[in-house]
Amino acid sequence: MNRRYRKTVIAGNWKMNMTATETKKFAEELKKIMPRAKWCDTLICVPACNIQTAAKAFKDLRISVGAENVYFEEKGAYTGEISPAMLVDAGVKYVVIGHSERREYFAESDETVNKKVLKAFEYGITPIVCCGESLTQREQGITIDWIRQQIKIAFLNVPADKAAEAVIAYEPIWAIGTGKVATTEQAQEVCGAIRACIAEIYDEATAEAIRIQYGGSVSAGSAPELFAQPDIDGGLVGGASLKPDFGKIVCYNK
Ligand code: 13P
Repeated sequence: MNRRYRKTVIAGNWKMNMTATETKKFAEELKKIMPRAKWCDTLICVPACNIQTAAKAFKDLRISVGAENVYFEEKGAYTGEISPAMLVDAGVKYVVIGHSERREYFAESDETVNKKVLKAFEYGITPIVCCGESLTQREQGITIDWIRQQIKIAFLNVPADKAAEAVIAYEPIWAIGTGKVATTEQAQEVCGAIRACIAEIYDEATAEAIRIQYGGSVSAGSAPELFAQPDIDGGLVGGASLKPDFGKIVCYNK
């Protein structure tokens, strides 16, 4: 696969952290240590009520704002949910879909992930489709089968031209928030298998275009080696995106 055609994409995922006030402060801190990020696509996915504040605060840094979730219906009686149109109107360009925390705590399934992916594309929002195995699944040796199934369902009925624009985040559950980052070999193996799976579902051109991130305890220390792998096109960063250190991860190749 040819890396030349794919621009690195580095995303923060703030999860349920940061108030709007803290968001503004964070942006000011980041400006001190980080130049405008031109060499890669950079974004931070923030809690829904901070989207507008973040969009304004990060504009000068060329950091796009993403959402952490979206609902698959257009509008109506879905108390607490946020529609794709609302996200677009607030300035959202990307949305995390199917994070393992949403699957675990909020009963998201491969099927709802697929509905959300289709809806995001309909509204011109780039989905960051998450997949990943548990420690038990890794120990049972079923990691690749599991991930392939997650990917196949997530991309059901998604046409090739749209799939090519998607971002997939491979996040082994055992590496999330644990400080236990996957080895470069483990991360590359699964990201390579994901790309092969996309080639099987679609074709080589789609597989070459789609961007695949690694996520799970990424830090400024581990980023350069991970992002240099042939099938790893950037990262989805949790804890380390809450500190100005995130700027160092974005500048991983500087
Ligand atoms: P950590 O970087 O804190 O391990 O979180 C990873 C993650 O879940 C990003 O979506």
